[in-house]
Amino acid sequence: MSDELPQSDIVAVTVEHRIAWVSFNRPDKRNAMSPALNRRMMEVLDELEFSAEVGVVVLTGAGSAWTAGMDLKDYFREAEARGLAGVRMAQRESYGWWRRLRWYQKPTIAMVNGWCFGGGYGPLFGCDLAFAAEEAKFGLSEINWGILPGGGATKVAVELMSLRDAMYHAMTGEPIDGKKAAEWKLVNEAVPLEKLRDRVAEVAHILLKKNPVALKATKDAIRRVCEMTYDNAEDYLVRAQEAANSYDNEGRKEGIRQFIDDKSFKPGLGSYDLSRQKAP
Ligand code: COA
Repeated sequence: MSDELPQSDIVAVTVEHRIAWVSFNRPDKRNAMSPALNRRMMEVLDELEFSAEVGVVVLTGAGSAWTAGMDLKDYFREAEARGLAGVRMAQRESYGWWRRLRWYQKPTIAMVNGWCFGGGYGPLFGCDLAFAAEEAKFGLSEINWGILPGGGATKVAVELMSLRDAMYHAMTGEPIDGKKAAEWKLVNEAVPLEKLRDRVAEVAHILLKKNPVALKATKDAIRRVCEMTYDNAEDYLVRAQEAANSYDNEGRKEGIRQFIDDKSFKPGLGSYDLSRQKAP
């Protein structure tokens, strides 16, 4: 698969030990998201989503940026020059792959190595987990060039941050570093850049040991229940587990067996051994 996605591509992919490292790959343009990049990213996500070689997808950036947000020339100015149809098409292409990420089959991790601005908050939120370099810089820079944070960026800010922090962040356009981004909950954790890849690989390996059907059900459940009453959530979760059973009816039974009968692991402390599970 990585053979079909050469490194010269606007989106670069390498697959190692079942981790797909997907990079925004326009370093000379600080990985700004152009319509061409957005289209390519959707194709790459398509190729990886059900590949047996891939268990976790990491989204990172080549060079000094994660992504400098939407491409002000190709995405804004040139799309606008094509009229409403051009604008709407560019929006569909970008929002489309971010939505795809939010509901992706496999676990996803944003590895924010550098600049992350504006529209970059869409894929940042789309990824299930996010780790940043302490040196990275995050900003809702839209106000600095005269627009509101669109493309979902405002929604991402209020979903992840406190109202006061979101308001300050969006109104001042001041960038914050990775440490502050972790404090403000835009990312799970910030570590020095030199340790970022190892930390992300470590987390990816934790996820690779989990039951993949349960992981997909869990990540969807976290996003869905955010918008539900307690009673609706309770009902959804019963049904979501029962639906998951239709894809994997053995996993939890094997987990119980390894704990209760074999005493080979403790669920409070780690995962059951997936390799001993019968194929569904
Ligand atoms: N859209 C289009 N082009 C962009 C871009 C963007 N969002 N971000 C960077 N670029 C281009 C620059 O125009 C420049 O192109 P050039 O070499 O043809 O002149 C190139 O990328 C390098 O950018 P530069 O500004 O010189 O890099 P830097 O490392 O000094 O600064 C940033 C990096 C990210 C701080 C700066 O590029 C920036 O502020 N970008 C815009 C961020 C933004 O507001 N994004 C929100 C969009 S919703």
